[in-house]
Amino acid sequence: MTQNSTPKSPVSLLGLGAMGTALARAWLAAGHPLTVWNRTPARAEALAGEGAKVADDAAGAVAAGGLVVLCLLDDESVGAALDGVDISGRDLVNLTTTTPEQARDRAAWAGARGARYLDGGIMAVPPMVGVPEAGGYVFYSGSRELFESHRATLAVPVGTKYVGEDAGFAALHDVALLSGMYGMFAGAAHAFALIRREDIDPVAFAPLLADWLAAMAQGVHGTAAQLRSGDYTEGVVSNLAMQVAGTPTFLATAEGQGVSAELIRPYFELMRRRLDAGSGEEDLTGVVDLLLR
Ligand SMILES: NC(=O)c1ccc[n+]([C@@H]2O[C@H](COP(=O)([O-])OP(=O)(O)OC[C@H]3O[C@@H](n4cnc5c(N)ncnc54)[C@H](OP(=O)(O)O)[C@@H]3O)[C@@H](O)[C@H]2O)c1
Repeated sequence: MTQNSTPKSPVSLLGLGAMGTALARAWLAAGHPLTVWNRTPARAEALAGEGAKVADDAAGAVAAGGLVVLCLLDDESVGAALDGVDISGRDLVNLTTTTPEQARDRAAWAGARGARYLDGGIMAVPPMVGVPEAGGYVFYSGSRELFESHRATLAVPVGTKYVGEDAGFAALHDVALLSGMYGMFAGAAHAFALIRREDIDPVAFAPLLADWLAAMAQGVHGTAAQLRSGDYTEGVVSNLAMQVAGTPTFLATAEGQGVSAELIRPYFELMRRRLDAGSGEEDLTGVVDLLLR
C-alpha cells in the first residue's frame, strides 16, 4: 500500500468556531474521515460541503468512533456539550483553553466516566493551522499512551509538544508562554508611547524594537540556568545594583515624554525590593522568587 492510500484514522470534532473550523479543514484536507458537531448547526454547513459528516448532537459525534476532539469556548462549554453523553471507552482530546486546575478536574471527570483524556493548549491562531511552515503547535499533557497512539493524527493541523502526564501541564505551559508575551507587549506599548508624540516614524522604529526584544529574549536561558542552579550571580553581565541605579532615568524619561510609567514601574519596584534584600550582585532572576506567594 502506498502512503497516499493508507486509511486515515477517523476524527470527531466538537466545536466549529474559528479554531475548530480551521482544525476541521486541516483534517479533511489530509483525508481523515471527519464527523463534526457544533451547538449552532449553521456553522457546520460549509464543512458538510467539504466532506465532513455532521452529527445531529454531541452524543452522535462522540459515538461516531475514532478520536474525539473538543475545541469549545471554555471549560464550562465542554461540560455543557458533554452533559449526559456516554464517553466510556472513548479517547478525548480537549483543545479548549482552560486553567491547569480545570484541565486536571476535566481529566478526572473523563477518567471517572471511562474515557482516556489528553489536554491541549493551542499555540497558534487559525491562519497558522494546516500551514506547517507557520510554526504553530499544541502543547499536550495527560495520558501519554493516548498521545502516542494518536500522535500522527494530532500532528496534522499543527505540530505537537507533549509536556507530561499531569493533565494541567499543557494549560500551564500555554498560559505561561502567553503571560510572557503580554509582558513583552506591555514593554512594547511603553516604548511606542515614549516616541508617540515625537517626529519618529513608528514603522521605522518597529524593527529596532523587534530586533532588540528578540536579542534580549535570549536572556531567558541564563535565567533558567540560574533558577536550576540556585546561584543567581552565575554569569551575571549587568548586575541588579547597576540596573536599579538606572531606573530613575527610565522614570524621568517617561515623565519628560508625558508618559505614564504604570506598566514598567511595578517591575522596577520588584527589582528595588530584591536589591534592598542584599542581592545587588545578582541578575534579575530573584524577581521570580518575589512573585511566589
Ligand atoms: N482563535 C484563536 O486564535 C485561538 C488560539 C488559541 C486557542 N484558542 C482556543 O480555542 C478554543 C476555541 O476558540 P475559537 O476561536 O474557535 O472560539 P469561537 O470562534 O468563539 O468558538 C467558540 C465555540 O465554542 C462553542 N460554544 C460556546 N459555548 C458553548 C456551549 N455552552 N455549549 C456548546 N458549545 C459552545 C461555540 O458554539 P456556537 O457556534 O454555537 O456559538 C463555538 O463552536 C478556545 O478555548 C480558544 O481559547 C483559540
